[in-house]
Amino acid sequence: MIKLIQTPSAASERPRTSKVHLITYGCQMNEYDSQRVAGLLQQQDYELCERPEDADLILLNTCAIREKAEDKVFSQLGALKRLKKARPDLVIGVMGCMAQLQQGRIQERAPHVDLVFGSPAISRVGELVARVRRGERAVLDTGEGALVKIVAKPESANRLKAFVTVMEGCEKRCTFCVVPVTRGRERSHAPGVIVDEIRGLAAAGCKEVTLLGQTVNAYGRDLEPATDLAALLELVDAIDGIERIRFTTSNPYNLTSRLIRAIRDVPKVVEYLHLPLQSGSDRVLERMHRGYTQARYLELIDEIKATVPEIALSTDIIVGFPGETDEDFAATVDVVERVGYDNAFVFRYSRRPGTPAAEMPDQVPDEVKARRNAELLAVTGRVAAVRSGRLAGRVLPVLVDGVSRKDLREVSGRTRCNRVVNFDAGGRRLLGSVVPVRIAEVLPHSLRGALAEVDADARPFAGASV
Ligand code: 5AD
Repeated sequence: MIKLIQTPSAASERPRTSKVHLITYGCQMNEYDSQRVAGLLQQQDYELCERPEDADLILLNTCAIREKAEDKVFSQLGALKRLKKARPDLVIGVMGCMAQLQQGRIQERAPHVDLVFGSPAISRVGELVARVRRGERAVLDTGEGALVKIVAKPESANRLKAFVTVMEGCEKRCTFCVVPVTRGRERSHAPGVIVDEIRGLAAAGCKEVTLLGQTVNAYGRDLEPATDLAALLELVDAIDGIERIRFTTSNPYNLTSRLIRAIRDVPKVVEYLHLPLQSGSDRVLERMHRGYTQARYLELIDEIKATVPEIALSTDIIVGFPGETDEDFAATVDVVERVGYDNAFVFRYSRRPGTPAAEMPDQVPDEVKARRNAELLAVTGRVAAVRSGRLAGRVLPVLVDGVSRKDLREVSGRTRCNRVVNFDAGGRRLLGSVVPVRIAEVLPHSLRGALAEVDADARPFAGASV
């Protein structure tokens, strides 16, 4: 069942009494969820505040993907204890993946937490907080619920770029991963619901959407009638005002030739693909239950490069998976060098409760994980620098999305391949426009350029002051 919750237009006219402080950990989907929670609470007379000291309600939106993410939440909860002691009516809530996975431990280690709820309960956040404020505690809501598309967004959210969740959950059963436990089974939102949401975003000035799903390229299989991501990309491409479409995360197992062609053929879809490798060794891939071999992964990469020569590739890699030998690790390094990623995220394997890999023999010692992590980062850094070099001297379309952090006369934006570019706007109001920029300098984390010539149809963003 899908319910649509709309932001009432009169919301901003009601008196505001309570303040909420939101702390978000983890992935883009969590950022998206936090924005929805903020939007829903604003409808309930809450306003967002910057400092936890000013809040009547503090919500931690948590991540459980690695142990380190959980440690951060427990130390944050420890720090908040002082505030709760000084003001017992302060409500502290934990939401998101850790709430699903670690409910018992949260209650044990942080008994001052009043409310624990998982992502399926987000649409009920107002009601859950009200129950706590009426004196009920601790309120727990971590079951699997109906698929709800919440379109409420806080008034303060960046209007130029937006995340849009198109599907929830994952059924891949990778042996290292908690997501099937925390986010449940795969459920896609209907194309019409997604298109309506993006139309609304475009009407409010949004230029770029990132379609989100744990396995976004499995989108639509569960719908009646079934559809796929390529079809959804075409629908989103037809929405006026949207300039760019990104999507993440794709799983190599579900990557079809049809989707690869859509990256080439659907104009607003950018030439960028995040395709987690996890390991370059067949032995490890098999025990991870990834469903592909090194050869199959490389075959896909060849097809992508042949179809979309401009493609920028990024990836996730785990080092120190149980049983990973030096030889396995060398196979991963080899794939990284062969593919030539623009960007790679390297993680040390973390034992997650309830996952098969946590119980596997031959867990790799921390020192070995640390060494492989450092070694691989050196390789991915070197490979990415070579990839960046290719951009020097080229004129690239840049979507201007802000003012440079370092120099206020400068604006910053992103290339289609998602690189940050800083350049002098020459006093023009460019925020929200796509403009051609000649890349003059390639720096480790950004590019510097100069405005090549402003397109005749570059439209300034309404109300922009740059
Ligand atoms: N340990 C380390 N990294 C992990 N990831 C997922 N689970 C684990 C784990 N148990 C990484 C994967 C995934 C990314 C989001 O996080 O590389 O693609």
